[in-house]
Amino acid sequence: MELFRTNAEINKWRDERWREGKTIGFVPTMGFLHRGHLALMEEAMRRSEQVVVSIFVNPTQFSPGEDLEQYPRDLDRDLKLCHELGVHVVFAPAVEEMYPPGFQTRVEVQHLTQHLCGLYRSDFFSGVTLVVTKLFCLVRPHLAFFGEKDFQQLVVVRRLSKDLNLGVEVIAHPTVRESDGLAMSSRNTYLSEEERRSALSLSLSLLEARKMVAEGELRADVLVQRAEMMIEAEPHTRIQYLQVVDEETMTDLTAVTPAAVMAMAVFVGQARLIDNMRLWPDSS
Ligand code: PAJ
Repeated sequence: MELFRTNAEINKWRDERWREGKTIGFVPTMGFLHRGHLALMEEAMRRSEQVVVSIFVNPTQFSPGEDLEQYPRDLDRDLKLCHELGVHVVFAPAVEEMYPPGFQTRVEVQHLTQHLCGLYRSDFFSGVTLVVTKLFCLVRPHLAFFGEKDFQQLVVVRRLSKDLNLGVEVIAHPTVRESDGLAMSSRNTYLSEEERRSALSLSLSLLEARKMVAEGELRADVLVQRAEMMIEAEPHTRIQYLQVVDEETMTDLTAVTPAAVMAMAVFVGQARLIDNMRLWPDSS
């Protein structure tokens, strides 16, 4: 496995693989890898001949007052995990390599980013679209793998790749969960034992909503109310948003359709956790 720190190194490697006609799969991450990330990498290994993983805690997607400094990091452990999986290249640039002095370009996806997380994290999507565009230009992968856990990010990146003709096929991977249902996240490390128990209410409320839909309840407000009640019954929780939206447009639905997703962001103690699930029976 090769570790690259500079744009020049990844470009040179990419040109060589390009000449050999290899399929390149790409998994962008902010590191502190968990089983969710590893599942994306395994999928990338299955579907491509060469796999690149990026590890970069991207400062432009954090707003002032968010957890940029606190964000957990452990590059040595991450490199070991990538190596064990058989990843070919890890790209882990320094902040100055990605954003040298004088940097001033932005990339904006207009409408999809005006909902859900976009309403509460003012810099998040512009930072994500910027860094993902840069990474796609550097790595020039054929396939890129994104998790459904961050389903709005996935839809935004898919739009971006299409709109800018980046030529990258964006592949979705289902959310990987702990055995009790909590969605895996690097931010779960912020949770105390008691908060960890409260955090379970996110996935439990999503499962309850799915069950209610299966039993015939299609009114979004009734489903939202029930989910809110379950989460608010737990200590340390504060709901930021909890909505039933269309998975293509991110706009609110009043009644459940086959495209309905329940999506939420909830503070549990200091940790801001997100989770979502499709509601239609038999959808995964
Ligand atoms: P990060 O939070 O490290 O996530 C990297 C990728 O792993 C994303 O595609 C995310 O959706 C996926 N992922 C995280 N937890 C998952 C889980 N439990 N199951 C399945 N997939 C999961 O998302 C980012 O980094 C950044 O915004 C990034 C795209 C790298 C841009 O900086």
